[in-house]
Amino acid sequence: MIVSPSLLAADFGNLEREIGMINRSHADWLHLDVMDGVFVPNISFGFPVLEAVARLCQKPLDVHLMIERPEKFVNEVAKLGAMMMNVHYEACVHLNRTIHVIHDAGMKAGVTLNPSTPVCLLEDVIRDVDMVLLMTVNPGFGGQKFIEHSLDKVRQLRQMIERTGSKALIEVDGGVNAKTAPQLAEAGVDVLVAGSYVFGAEQPEQVIDQLRAL
Ligand code: DX5
Ligand code: ZN
Repeated sequence: MIVSPSLLAADFGNLEREIGMINRSHADWLHLDVMDGVFVPNISFGFPVLEAVARLCQKPLDVHLMIERPEKFVNEVAKLGAMMMNVHYEACVHLNRTIHVIHDAGMKAGVTLNPSTPVCLLEDVIRDVDMVLLMTVNPGFGGQKFIEHSLDKVRQLRQMIERTGSKALIEVDGGVNAKTAPQLAEAGVDVLVAGSYVFGAEQPEQVIDQLRAL
């Protein structure tokens, strides 16, 4: 399992220490949640903070933009040296174009679905994306309860990927913990995002190892 701890649950008063823990850990990626207060009812951090994080972090950056018009920020995300740029299906009118612009900027492209957006809408884009990020809570806040129906969506998406020959990874985000992570692995997930479960743990590096072993 690929593990992408979400910095949203870190202690922002000690970002250098928290990123040091991530660097020492076996975490595969670092998940960065950008919010604009419009697409989601919260604001997290913006590019000045992300630049500092990118300087400190030695792991590939998995950037999750919970913002309207994410295509406006492709160059800024690329300048961070991000590995993956995830945009929401619901925020992109011209998703096909946005995916190509992300690829042209040298990044992998991920498309993200809110819990109420059906997997079948990905039919015409699944072969073009490197990853699908399924939200397993409503985006905007850490520490929320996992939405059970997400397991069915993972299975549907796994079927679509196999049927179409797509190379897309399946990532899930929200409510990942000791109970839900094995269920998600069983349903066919490739990448687990975990915020409060990792950063709220007494031994975060051990939690990361446990998730990776799934
Ligand atoms: C929520 C963010 C998540 C968040 C997950 O909108 O996209 O990445 O950090 O938090 P947990 O793992 O605590 O549910
Ligand atoms: Zn996220």
